[in-house]
Amino acid sequence: MPTISEIAAHFPIESQSSVRDKQFLLAVRRLLGDCAPSYDYLEVGSFLGGSLAPFLGDSACQSILSIDERGKILPDERGALFDYAGITTQSMLDRLRQAGLATTKLTTHDGPIDTLPPSDRRFDLAFIDGEHTDQACFRDFLWALPMMKADSIIMFHDSSLIYKAIRMIALLLRKDGRPFTFFKNGDSEMSAIFLGGLSRCDLGLYFEAGEECDDFYASSELSVLEHNVRNRVRSDDDGERLTSFTIDPPKPEKAYY
Ligand SMILES: C[S@@+](CC[C@H](N)C(=O)[O-])C[C@H]1O[C@@H](n2cnc3c(N)ncnc32)[C@H](O)[C@@H]1O
Repeated sequence: MPTISEIAAHFPIESQSSVRDKQFLLAVRRLLGDCAPSYDYLEVGSFLGGSLAPFLGDSACQSILSIDERGKILPDERGALFDYAGITTQSMLDRLRQAGLATTKLTTHDGPIDTLPPSDRRFDLAFIDGEHTDQACFRDFLWALPMMKADSIIMFHDSSLIYKAIRMIALLLRKDGRPFTFFKNGDSEMSAIFLGGLSRCDLGLYFEAGEECDDFYASSELSVLEHNVRNRVRSDDDGERLTSFTIDPPKPEKAYY
């Protein structure tokens, strides 16, 4: 497990991820390094370049494509809007270079993944961390999947927000008969789908125990509901936001009489 100072060295740029998230990214990097001498990395949603840094700095990573629809006010499953205006691709490149990272292996695309020109490039690792709505995450996955090699990994950030997209992705892969393993990192917002031969990898060698799928889905549902109540519901009595409330599990009701 990398120490805090090792993590700081791999992530010299501010990133919207926790220490546990960063440890997960480094563990995936180690797993890939054990499987092949080199790999190619696709990132959807790069912001300041924080999550690009450990891959730019890894000599085994031979090419990176960063896709980011810049300058948007993003909807989010929490029922809030997040303003990303003001950060451009150029400002990200400047920060990466200021951090001493060469950007020669990095190409960028300003726009959503479904506007990417057709290409033969294929990737070993993808990170979906753009707009955190189920619909956008599902779209990003649908377009990323054909760009992946048969044995590859697709990671997700803010997994508890886009858990419904993850459920649909799992259904799609099952229906298509594609071998895969889903892993949700414990105490972290990172999760990943291991495709093809990598689905048979001994994940215990790289990650601490993951979260049970059903527990992850149930706690995510509750968390998304809580966020929506806090962000969108006001009391009819005083117009104030609700700060104290209880969310009950769904009650069975007779569907017909
Ligand atoms: C949560 S931030 C990414 C954080 C980054 N991965 C990190 O760890 O530091 C989300 C990014 O997604 C970008 N974005 C918004 N809509 C997008 C879309 N449709 N496709 C790709 N990126 C998008 C935003 O501009 C923002 O830079």
